Amino acid sequence: MSSVGHANGGYAEAFGQSVEDPEGFWLGAAEAIDWVAPPTRALDDSAAPMYRWFPDARMNTCFNALDRHVAAGRGEQAALIYDSAMLGTTRTYSYAQLLDEVSRFAGGLAAQGISAGDRVVVYMPMIPEAAVAMLACARIGAIHSVVFGGFAAAELAARIDDAQPKALVTASGGLEPGRTIEYLPLVERALGLTAQAPATVIVKKREQIPGAASDYPGWLDWDDAVAAAGPVDCVPVAATDPLYILYTSGTTGKPKGVVRDNGGHAVALAWSMRNIYDIGPGQVMWTASDVGWVVGHSYIVYAPLLVGATTVMYEGKPVGTPDAGAFWRVIAEHKVRALFTAPTAIRAIRKEDPDAKELAHYDISSMTTLFAAGERLDPDTYEWATRELGVPVIDHWWQTETGWAICANLRGLDPMPIKAGSPTVPVPGYRVQVVDAEGAEVEAGAEGNIVIALPLPPGTLAGLWRDEERYVKSYLATFPGYYLTGDSGYVDADGYVFVLGRSDDVINVAGHRLSTGAMEAVVAQHAAVAECAVVGIKDELKGQRPSGYVVLKAGAEVEPEQLRTELVAMVRDQIGAVATFRDVTVVQALPKTRSGKILRKTMRQIADHEDYTVPSTIEDPAVLDALTRLLGGPGA
Ligand code: COA
Ligand code: AMP
Repeated sequence: MSSVGHANGGYAEAFGQSVEDPEGFWLGAAEAIDWVAPPTRALDDSAAPMYRWFPDARMNTCFNALDRHVAAGRGEQAALIYDSAMLGTTRTYSYAQLLDEVSRFAGGLAAQGISAGDRVVVYMPMIPEAAVAMLACARIGAIHSVVFGGFAAAELAARIDDAQPKALVTASGGLEPGRTIEYLPLVERALGLTAQAPATVIVKKREQIPGAASDYPGWLDWDDAVAAAGPVDCVPVAATDPLYILYTSGTTGKPKGVVRDNGGHAVALAWSMRNIYDIGPGQVMWTASDVGWVVGHSYIVYAPLLVGATTVMYEGKPVGTPDAGAFWRVIAEHKVRALFTAPTAIRAIRKEDPDAKELAHYDISSMTTLFAAGERLDPDTYEWATRELGVPVIDHWWQTETGWAICANLRGLDPMPIKAGSPTVPVPGYRVQVVDAEGAEVEAGAEGNIVIALPLPPGTLAGLWRDEERYVKSYLATFPGYYLTGDSGYVDADGYVFVLGRSDDVINVAGHRLSTGAMEAVVAQHAAVAECAVVGIKDELKGQRPSGYVVLKAGAEVEPEQLRTELVAMVRDQIGAVATFRDVTVVQALPKTRSGKILRKTMRQIADHEDYTVPSTIEDPAVLDALTRLLGGPGA
């Protein structure tokens, strides 16, 4: 294996090589993957700005995640530990067992006529079958599109509309503290809302949750689908073929279908395990997220398995299932080496157990590192976690689009001093810059748009599903030659990157990426609402939460409390409870520019009681004054 495949080299050396000799760097990293036809070239830039990695290579992602480890004698090692705090149970799948489950479910899919290139929507809670379904798709070259189980029927329908799947795989439901979420009525509703309903619906029956395939004509039970078919082998695909589509929130209500390839993804994730997370074969990684998010795709399912490690799949919360010691229990029980979670989860634990007394009940000495992402790790939470856990607490910054970290403190290379509030430095392959509105690079310390010079490294998005125009418009057109991250921030004199927040209408609520545009579209449907704006404001626990401002139609007679109740119910029903939409303020008018653009950023600053400057293009300054008085901000 070449030097770039190895941990414990220097960061500067690795970064330098990734920039000066990307071909050599990534072909070296590609040696960590088993290929059917190995790559002879790394980058294909012939259709720039649509770049492709490993254009002449063939492989199978599932083979790399499972078969090869069994063949290498790791069959009895734990591949996946399912720990359900909701049920109080734990189940371990060895690599051999997981391979067996996956190849049999892949057979079940194939028997339904699913083959390479077909899309399969996976709408599942945090149960092992979610990972089995994803890997089974990868095995036969089908493209999975996992939809977070907390999304409501309309959001599921929007994703089905776009992906046009041949099959949908689901379960009878999910478990939330104090209630069960029955998925099947939601699925039925979603199928009624879309013109692209798949021919096949497969249901994993959970004994704790009512509902079964047999309640719905034509739907198939998971076990029956498997029993009727035999196991199947891996289907080799081109490295450039899509492995999955994952929808994420953009500025409009229509989600963006981020497309991930097979080859670049496997190479990048394998490299990241060794060099960012410092996790190798037989070591345990626990990512406390959900398979419906990119963090779950990359670090619950694919990356740990690609390197022969053990992954923990946790069904539960950081608090309340049953208490603030839940995370420490999982670490102790499964000898977790690295925990990866969202800062919100740490804040939730701290709120409930400020002195971390629960730690006394568990031996968490197996843990060497805590990784955080999904939102900025605020310095206060960083300090608390560092003090209480006694291990390095590593913030790293990435997005659904990139699939793996853009900036990190690379624990497998030479770890760097940590600066609170910064995800440290660009990961090899990412040429990060901060530019002003005209695209000129700003000086160290000055805030601007964070962009990444093209091409992006392997593992990042290949585009948006069947929408090259939107891909180019959303990410590449603003600053030609650069990928627009949508985040603003700065780089300090030491080269440390600081990510301050989104510069668009995307918000992060408890690490869940949501679109305020989508919420506005729902609020605007209310009969009494003439106009509305939803902005993301600061929230002590969840980082951000949506806050709605509505202007009533002339003559509309509705009590503010009734309006609030109705709007909250509408957003829960159409987007999902995860949106945490609870604040509604009735205003006389929304502040706008003369061209009619709502001044959302200024509204957010007022709501957060931050100083703001009145934009010169404002239509009517009195509207801003009224809003400032209403919300009690410091004013301009
Ligand atoms: N299916 C259905 N509903 C779901 C759901 C799912 N998969 N996940 C969350 N919800 C619901 C919850 O039941 C809750 O409903 P409620 O309003 O009726 O109580 C609502 O969505 C909000 O849930 P949640 O965001 O979990 O907030 P909470 O207040 O229940 O818990 C935390 C707060 C901090 C404990 C929780 O947000 C958390 O664990 N955050 C970490 C998130 C994370 O890992 N993100 C991944 C990004 S890397
Ligand atoms: P998602 O696509 O859901 O992963 O959300 C990506 C967005 O979350 C980024 O564009 C950032 O705005 C935010 N984000 C993720 N990780 C971090 C981090 N470590 N620091 C700051 N913001 C982050």
